Amino acid sequence: MKHIVSGIQPTGSLNIGTYLGSIKNFVKLQDQMPEHEFFIFIADLHAITIPKEKQFLRKKIKELAALYIACGLDPNRVNLFIQSEVPAHSQLAYLLQCNSYIGELERMTQYKDKSKKQESVTVGLFSYPTLMAADILLYDAEYVPVGIDQKQHLELTRDIAIRMNNRYNDIFTVPQPLIAEVGAKIQSLTDPDQKMSKSDDLIKSRIDLLDDENIIRKRIRSAVTDSVGTIVYNKEQRAGISNLMTIYSVITGKSFTELEEQYQGCGYKEFKDDLAEVVVGELKPIQERYYDLINSKELDDILDKGRDRAIQVAMKKITKINDRIGLGRKRR
Ligand code: TYM
Repeated sequence: MKHIVSGIQPTGSLNIGTYLGSIKNFVKLQDQMPEHEFFIFIADLHAITIPKEKQFLRKKIKELAALYIACGLDPNRVNLFIQSEVPAHSQLAYLLQCNSYIGELERMTQYKDKSKKQESVTVGLFSYPTLMAADILLYDAEYVPVGIDQKQHLELTRDIAIRMNNRYNDIFTVPQPLIAEVGAKIQSLTDPDQKMSKSDDLIKSRIDLLDDENIIRKRIRSAVTDSVGTIVYNKEQRAGISNLMTIYSVITGKSFTELEEQYQGCGYKEFKDDLAEVVVGELKPIQERYYDLINSKELDDILDKGRDRAIQVAMKKITKINDRIGLGRKRR
C-alpha cells in the first residue's frame, strides 16, 4: 500500500488557515484515495525548536489530536499519532543531518523568518527541515498534503532523498507535495499580505477553530478589505476581499465566478454577514465533536492505535536504512 504523510505543529490554537489549507484536504483525500494508507501526526518535536512551557505544550498536543478527529479524520482510515511517541523520527533525522549541508538549510525562508525573531537560535530550529524530511521519508510517503508555505521544505526533502538514493542504492521513495488549488494560503484578516498564523500576536488576525460564534462574526466584520466595495476576485490588487472569497469558496465549494455572480451589486456588509454564517455553520459541528472527545478514552485509544502502527512501519524502515548505511552489526 502507498502512503500519505502529513503533520501539524501544536504551537498555538488551530485556526481556519491551517484547517482549510491542510486538515480539510486530509479529510477529502481519505475518501478520494482509498488505496493509500495515511500517517497523520502531531508534530510536537517540531514545536520545541522554539522552547515551550510544559503545561502549554501538553494542552496543545491533546487539543490538536481532538481537533483532527473533530474535523472529520476517520481513525479507521488514518493512523493518527504523536510524533515524539515514535522515536524513529528523531533517529532518522540524525541520519539525514549527516547527509544534508549547512548551506542548503541556511537557504530555508522559514528558518530565516523565525530565527530573526529569536534572541538566540537553537540547533533544533536550524535543523528543523531535516526532522520534517525524516517524518516523510520514514514512511516512504508518495504524497504529502501541505499548504504553500511548506513547499520549500518538501523540495529539500526530495533533494535529500535523491542524494541518499544515489549514495545508498534507492532507499527512499521521493515524495511529492499535494497542494490544494484554492486555500493553500489563507491570509491574515488584519494584514492580507501576510499568512494567517497561529503564532501571530494579533488575535484579530485569525479565526480559531474553537472561537465562539459571536467572535467569529466580529472578526469577519472587521476584516480588512479595500474601498472599491465590489465582490470581485483579484488576489494581487485586492488581497483582502480575495482572501475572504477564498475562505467562502473552500468551505462551500463555490468557485470565485459563482461568488462574483451571487454577490453582483452587493456590498461588503452583505457578503461578510453571509461569510460569517458559512464559517459558523462549518465550525459548529467541529466544536461539538471536539468537546465530546477532548477528555475521552476514545481519543487515547485512537492515539495508541496510531502510534503502534506507526512504530511498526517506522522500525522496519530504520532497520533497513541502518543496514544500508552499514551501522551496527550485519544482520544474519
Ligand atoms: P504548520 O503547523 O505551520 O501548519 C500545518 C499545515 O497547515 C498549513 N497552513 C496553512 N495553509 C493555508 N493557509 C494558512 N494560513 C496556513 N497556515 C498553515 C501548512 O502549510 C501545513 O501544511 N513543518 C510543518 C509541520 C510538519 C509537517 C511534517 C508537514 C512537520 N513535519 C511532515 C508535512 C509533513 C508546519 O510547521 O506546519
